[in-house]
Amino acid sequence: MDIEKRIDDLLARMTLPEKIGQMRQISGAPEGTEDLIRQGAVGSFLNVMGEDARRCQRLAVEESRLGIPLIFGRDVIHGFRTILPIPLGQAATFDPEVVREGARIAAREAAACGVHWTFAPMVDIARDPRWGRIAEGCGEDPYLAACVGAAMVEGFQGSDLADPERIAACAKHYVGYGAAEGGRDYNTTWIPEGLLRDVYLVPFQACVRAGTATLMSAFNDLNGVPASGNAFTLRKVLKGEWGFDGFVVSDWASIWEMIPHGFAADEQEAAQLGVAAGVDMEMVSSCFEHLEALVAAGKLPLELIDDAVRRILRVKLRLGLFEHPYADEGRQAVILSAEHRQVAQRAARESCVLLKNEGLLPLSAAISKLAVIGPLADSGRDQLGCWVMDGRGEDAVTPLQALQGALGAGRVVYAPGLADARSTDESLIPEAVAAAQAAEAVVAFLGEDAGLSGEAHSRAFLDLPGAQQRLLDALAATGRPVVAVILTGRSLALGPVVEKAGALLLAWHPGTMGGPAIADLLLGVEAPVGRLPVTLPRTVGQVPLYYNHKSTGRPPADDAPSIPTGTPLDPEGFVSSYLDVDHRPLFPFGFGLSYTTFAYRDLQLSTPQLRLGEALTASVTVTNTGAAKGIEVVQLYVRDRVGSLTRPVRELKGFQRVELAPGEARQVSFTLHTDDLAFHNAAMQRVTEPGAFDLWIGPDAQHGLPAEFTVVG
Ligand code: GLC
Repeated sequence: MDIEKRIDDLLARMTLPEKIGQMRQISGAPEGTEDLIRQGAVGSFLNVMGEDARRCQRLAVEESRLGIPLIFGRDVIHGFRTILPIPLGQAATFDPEVVREGARIAAREAAACGVHWTFAPMVDIARDPRWGRIAEGCGEDPYLAACVGAAMVEGFQGSDLADPERIAACAKHYVGYGAAEGGRDYNTTWIPEGLLRDVYLVPFQACVRAGTATLMSAFNDLNGVPASGNAFTLRKVLKGEWGFDGFVVSDWASIWEMIPHGFAADEQEAAQLGVAAGVDMEMVSSCFEHLEALVAAGKLPLELIDDAVRRILRVKLRLGLFEHPYADEGRQAVILSAEHRQVAQRAARESCVLLKNEGLLPLSAAISKLAVIGPLADSGRDQLGCWVMDGRGEDAVTPLQALQGALGAGRVVYAPGLADARSTDESLIPEAVAAAQAAEAVVAFLGEDAGLSGEAHSRAFLDLPGAQQRLLDALAATGRPVVAVILTGRSLALGPVVEKAGALLLAWHPGTMGGPAIADLLLGVEAPVGRLPVTLPRTVGQVPLYYNHKSTGRPPADDAPSIPTGTPLDPEGFVSSYLDVDHRPLFPFGFGLSYTTFAYRDLQLSTPQLRLGEALTASVTVTNTGAAKGIEVVQLYVRDRVGSLTRPVRELKGFQRVELAPGEARQVSFTLHTDDLAFHNAAMQRVTEPGAFDLWIGPDAQHGLPAEFTVVG
């Protein structure tokens, strides 16, 4: 019998309390849940796995009236036991294939432990690195976030949700959560519908198109309506316009939180608003207990309950839970397998972004002595990053261990320099200086410990925590060449690091195999290929700072003189900039170096003029002009010069990774359709407007060969 008929059959037999039970999700399996399961009063658990999950599932399948299986959810955000780079680092790979592979291995490990459903990918666009959850997302750009988010959905789910090695995905947090005012988590968001549709909704639509089984509604108040009670985003856009047929789970108690939001007077109204808006399952809070009374009082149509339950049953049936309710724990042999570690190492290596290199990297494998400095050089748990539920620090290979393995312990001298990454006690710095003086070169591991990013971990400053900058300054003062490796969950203000280090590698939080990945890059076994998925500011005072910004009526010239810091007299120019800092980013979106150089030439367009509905081909020749092989991430940007609404100065519309041998040249082509140029006009129509467009193909959002074309009506 096909799935829809099976749903009809079940619904016809379910009582209203049993229907409402499917809409309830409980965290953990505290005492008393057995009775709820037998009554069919709970449909899902999160944070219940292994033997506990098996016990609960047996109760549901064998002792409840209809035997509807439970669905078990878990935050498998960037790996299960084998931890991948944080999603922001995975976005830096600009490589959907490695992202898909990472999600695939995460699903294999989680499924073997009884997880049916992950609360990932998180695809909240974030333009403010003060927000701790920027670590968990796919960066500032909708096109890149759409590619990365869709790849994660495909990796988690595969082509058949019933595959015992796959799990259901959950695109979150729908929608606008990353626009929290002040970068302060859970804070208010104001997003005009046009911006919502052209930026924040784009990666979610990509995840829906990739087939995500579920979405999670967000905590934030979106334009005065909490995202978990927002009929416009949930029912009109997601379930209406996009035809999404899976289900929406609330975030943790976000239904109940409509009371402190001041949007619901009590739990009954919160339940009514949540279901009416389109939330199908309530995570953890229990407002949905009022649904039976709401239906009885005619305040909530039974059809909405039936629709929610239909969606939940559809996902459970697609997962094959009725046929295979129990995990095959014999599959746990894949956990931390060599294959999985290789995928994690590849992802970590590809996530690292080389920001500066004055001939220091790669280090010679014949180096006589290498000083490795910093508490983050040897902290397995910190390199895993935030949102790690099952990964363990002891499974990780740290950079220190990897470098000792590669060079031999005798050629590596280690000094933490600080007791931990936030310490302001400088008493260990002299020991680190002595280690540097005894070495031929220094690698300083700096940045954030894992506890400084993630949920509810916003920062008001973007500087290196504690006394790390003073540690770096002391190391630089020795005159030894210093390589800085930054572990972090967010963009940091790295100007002072750039000044003191001869080379700078941004490694995010690279996961279980971050050590070998970083060692391979430092020693030239592999070359860096990562590119920035977020703009790096000079200071937190520039935030929000993102590449696809509007022009303003007084745009500063890109080559504007960097206004001297401090309080200059008679500052020049009446343009949109600052008196006390260069308005430009420290490093632009898309930027990243490798161990070779690339040149772009011969940008050609197949036509200078397009009619609406047509496409052009843009081609460029990229040459590896250096002495080492390398991968270039060739990027395509456009600008709509004049619109019925102002348009961004640049928008990413394509990227391709191209591996070139020394001296090799290759033509790289992009197809650009007029539909790729569409945006939502004042009437909220998605349109491409005739007119002149700029186009660039280059290595990042600030550089590239220019061209222009016209779209005619
Ligand atoms: C948290 C997070 C959400 C997570 C959920 C379950 O509060 O906001 O991303 O999936 O609760 O842990």
